[in-house]
Amino acid sequence: MTVSLRLTAVAALAAAAVAVPLAMSMAQSDPIAARKALFQSNRTAMGAVKAVIDANGATAGAEAPALTMVANAQNIAALFPAGSDKGDTKAKPEIWAKFDDFKSKAANFGTAAENIAAAAKSGDMNKLKAAFGAAGGACKACHDDYRAG
Ligand code: HEC
Repeated sequence: MTVSLRLTAVAALAAAAVAVPLAMSMAQSDPIAARKALFQSNRTAMGAVKAVIDANGATAGAEAPALTMVANAQNIAALFPAGSDKGDTKAKPEIWAKFDDFKSKAANFGTAAENIAAAAKSGDMNKLKAAFGAAGGACKACHDDYRAG
């Protein structure tokens, strides 16, 4: 009993200590899983912005999900290392053939996310709607060229 309690406590401490390095090593050892998690986070964030728009009240709630996407945009390129076109992935080989363009599409998406954050702060719902639409376009611009299916 005492032993297992002690072990549980040690395991909990160890889990807390490794949480961040684990996320980083996951990006290195399994970039495909890591980038899918990032894009799922994009989907969740866009859903959160959409919910703020649908509620048609204060715009401020859209700022946090927008900032999540700003951070995501900065991490996209690093999650597409050479050779990660093989495996359970919809990433098209064109990504690596035109990596500068791929990076610029990631940057455009980052700018679109910054514009959502600015609109959320402004309190102007029409601005927020426009920024949301533009961000959706930035997702699509990349998917059309670089995501299969
Ligand atoms: C710079 C390019 C780029 C941008 C910008 C981009 N995506 Fe993607 N997205 C991809 C690629 C490439 C994949 C396929 C990844 C794979 O299968 O390895 C993908 C996959 C996804 C997936 C599927 C993830 C899974 O679990 O398989 C979702 C959901 C997604 N994107 C949502 C979004 C949303 C929402 C946005 C904008 C808010 C966005 N993406 C912006 C390139 C992009």
